[in-house]
Amino acid sequence: MVKVLIATDKPFAKVAADQIRSILSNAGYTAIFLEKYTDQQDFVNAAADVDAIIIRSDKADRAVISQAKNLKIVVRAGAGYDNVDLAAATEKGVVVMNTPGQNSNAVAELVFGMMVYQARNHFNGSSGTELKDKTIGLHAYGNVGRHVARIAKGFGMTVYAYDPFVSKEQIEQDGVIAVDSVEALYRQCQYVSLHIPANEKTKKSINYALLSAMPPQATLINTARKEVICEDDLKRIFADRKDFCYVSDVAPDCLAELKEFENRYYMTPKKLGAQTEEANINAGIAAAQQIIAFIERNDTTYKVN
Ligand code: 3PG
Repeated sequence: MVKVLIATDKPFAKVAADQIRSILSNAGYTAIFLEKYTDQQDFVNAAADVDAIIIRSDKADRAVISQAKNLKIVVRAGAGYDNVDLAAATEKGVVVMNTPGQNSNAVAELVFGMMVYQARNHFNGSSGTELKDKTIGLHAYGNVGRHVARIAKGFGMTVYAYDPFVSKEQIEQDGVIAVDSVEALYRQCQYVSLHIPANEKTKKSINYALLSAMPPQATLINTARKEVICEDDLKRIFADRKDFCYVSDVAPDCLAELKEFENRYYMTPKKLGAQTEEANINAGIAAAQQIIAFIERNDTTYKVN
């Protein structure tokens, strides 16, 4: 009997968990749920004899992977797989996949929820500003960036994008202005929304030079990863620019040091971009189906290692 562990510190919505269980059970597999765990050792123990693992932002680290003696596949139900030790998985012949695009709309909608909340002064009753006729720059034009572009146009914003992996033609066919450099994006746009992955090239890459080049009343939106921000530079820009705001669904490590700038930032208490029933259903079902396709037919679509 194939055993699948669903390890989610931040659980899927019940409707999604029920569908994952039913898809796996129809395939003759056993689903084991480990939810809201607080000790990483609980994850290591629960993974010890399973064939497959579904995770969200949970850390599939070397201990989990190396001690799971029957493990064949880890599926990150979501986009970013910086939480999986790819080297450990590859050494052990374990396939790692993500489920690209499945939770992107949820993340894009939260971008606008946070932008409006910030532009309206945290709904404190004072006069805020509107998004219409403002500029927004998409730092990367992947699945989330495209949804943000679509919604931004509905708000009447002018949309720019920078993505070295997407052609100018592809960007511009969506009615988005493609810029040639990351510097140009920050120089041009009052709002910049981050959609880059966290990797060796991008970590700490959002720095003082970029943020200080943004036009007046600048707001940075981060629904990507906290690691891409250079936090020393973030503190510096908050101190230097009274007009700079930052909203994110992941708090920086230096959050306590931002306290004096309180009305200029907002962070969700947990990473919430993808936390909708729809995104949970889409990503959870895709993860379960990808595991079945891999085990039954050796289908390695969406393999990332
Ligand atoms: C992702 O990479 O897909 C998002 O950051 C969502 O992460 P989550 O599944 O932990 O909400």
